Amino acid sequence: MNAKEFAAAAGLGEVIGAIAEASAEIATKIRLAGLSDIYGAAGAVNVQGEAQQKLDVFANDVMIAKLGAVAECAAIVSEEDDEPVVFDHPGAKFVAIFDPLDGSSNIDVNVNVGTIVSIQAVKGDATATALQPGTAQVAALYVVYGPSTVMVVALAEKEGVAFFTLDDKGEFVLTAEGVKMPEQGPYYSTNEANAASWPAVYREYVATLVKGELGGKAYGARYIGSLVADFHRTILKGGVFLYPPTEKAPKGKLRLLYEANPLALIAEKADGAAVNGRTRILEVVAEQVHERTPLIVGSKREVEALQQMVLKAG
Ligand code: AHG
Ligand code: MN
Ligand code: MN
Ligand code: MN
Repeated sequence: MNAKEFAAAAGLGEVIGAIAEASAEIATKIRLAGLSDIYGAAGAVNVQGEAQQKLDVFANDVMIAKLGAVAECAAIVSEEDDEPVVFDHPGAKFVAIFDPLDGSSNIDVNVNVGTIVSIQAVKGDATATALQPGTAQVAALYVVYGPSTVMVVALAEKEGVAFFTLDDKGEFVLTAEGVKMPEQGPYYSTNEANAASWPAVYREYVATLVKGELGGKAYGARYIGSLVADFHRTILKGGVFLYPPTEKAPKGKLRLLYEANPLALIAEKADGAAVNGRTRILEVVAEQVHERTPLIVGSKREVEALQQMVLKAG
């Protein structure tokens, strides 16, 4: 079974099929990056204030072209576009909200990057649809472009998450379903260069993990700097990824609608958890499509321990 067939039961076959086609094209571009002029900056600054990379633009264009050809897709919201891109698809049922290329700082050094997609059912115009809380998502998925290209999909109506591997014919073939993540893990994953500017409770939390005070386990540290890659390791091995508030990003760096929400749905479907510190990510109501959030996501044991410490700290 491929990703399109798997999603068909939820009425999402065409939408996820288009994302699978786009991801296969992005995977090929990444694999042959050194042979085409796809490394480096595109020359523009996006709405995030980031220097857009050529692969950000390529991935965004491919995602928009593929989803723009699907009658069920009403519109898209992208990290790379200030405003939603609305298609002329009367009666379309879904909006795709995505980060077309996650981990852009890793493109030129041949380290795993990804694509992250949240799918909401149309409710009002494209912006109103996208601003629905994460609990309303009908599906969420990510693709990690690494030694192999893997797609991980969570459907709102199913427990567990499904894994697909891109084969040499360009198909994402099902390799596992109903997958759950370990209760507790061996790793914590964060950019410790920011530790001095975190709220103190986050430093205390990491110290308890390092000292083995959470369930007697001494943790290792792993940080790739691509959210998708750090999350993928976390869902497979267990543990916690955290991007706390910093002085530079007091509301957090990661984006709620197309980074935190989809990964939070996937984590919860795998019996994990995701909070912004105090609150379950999926219950946060966004005010604008590019808003940022702190993100602590991973095994239930670690995430709940952090949430308790933050609530206790007041
Ligand atoms: P994007 O490339 O889509 O803008 O996302 C980058 C994000 C995320 O992938 C990663 O976890 C984080 O930026 C890394 O941030 P730092 O370099 O500040 O650690
Ligand atoms: Mn970016
Ligand atoms: Mn990203
Ligand atoms: Mn991105």
